[in-house]
Amino acid sequence: MKIKIAASILSADFSCLARELSKVERAGADLIHVDVMDGHFVPNITIGPVVVKYIRKSTKLPLDVHLMIASPEKYVGAFVNAGSDMITVHIETVTLKQLSTIGKGLKRHGVKLGISLNPGTSLAKIKKALPLVDFVLIMSVNPGFGGQAFIPSALNKIRQLRAIFKKDIAVDGGINNITGRLVKEAGANILAVGSYIFGAKNTKKAINNLR
Ligand code: DX5
Ligand code: ZN
Repeated sequence: MKIKIAASILSADFSCLARELSKVERAGADLIHVDVMDGHFVPNITIGPVVVKYIRKSTKLPLDVHLMIASPEKYVGAFVNAGSDMITVHIETVTLKQLSTIGKGLKRHGVKLGISLNPGTSLAKIKKALPLVDFVLIMSVNPGFGGQAFIPSALNKIRQLRAIFKKDIAVDGGINNITGRLVKEAGANILAVGSYIFGAKNTKKAINNLR
């Protein structure tokens, strides 16, 4: 499977976001990963649809919007209108019925649906969701902040999921050149990466290392 690199702008300089976006675009990123946090599902607050709308204007790359928020069903519409290409919700925040409704809405707009699970949530919790989604996002840190250390138990989850799931498997948190290799070997094909890319002196080299 082709490896895709999703640059997580959580570690970007938000005072010059357009410049940061074009920097990672020129360096070869495949996707822009946008971390949306509500201070409720996770202990941090980031950005909402109004900012995503301007991110959409500032890059040609597809927007991979990671919703770390309670009641995502109330907000997916706004993120679709803002220009999202992929939207991920957390299994900890939705019922299967809500997920199915969200999926139908996204399909009408050609937006892909992903399901994510926290490090402490077992793979069994997403089994029934798998037929409803286009991809799975495995969290390899507890969501909320960039720059945290990779939690190795994510590797087993990726391996077990890859054995039963043929679509895209994304992984998010603590990915660098070393952990990146491990998650690819385990079967992940989309790498969401923040601090390793935005903290690098040479952005292109960092992205090439990941690939
Ligand atoms: C964590 C976010 C991640 C984060 C990754 O809650 O979902 O996307 O930005 O950052 P790094 O790559 O620094 O762990
Ligand atoms: Zn994320």
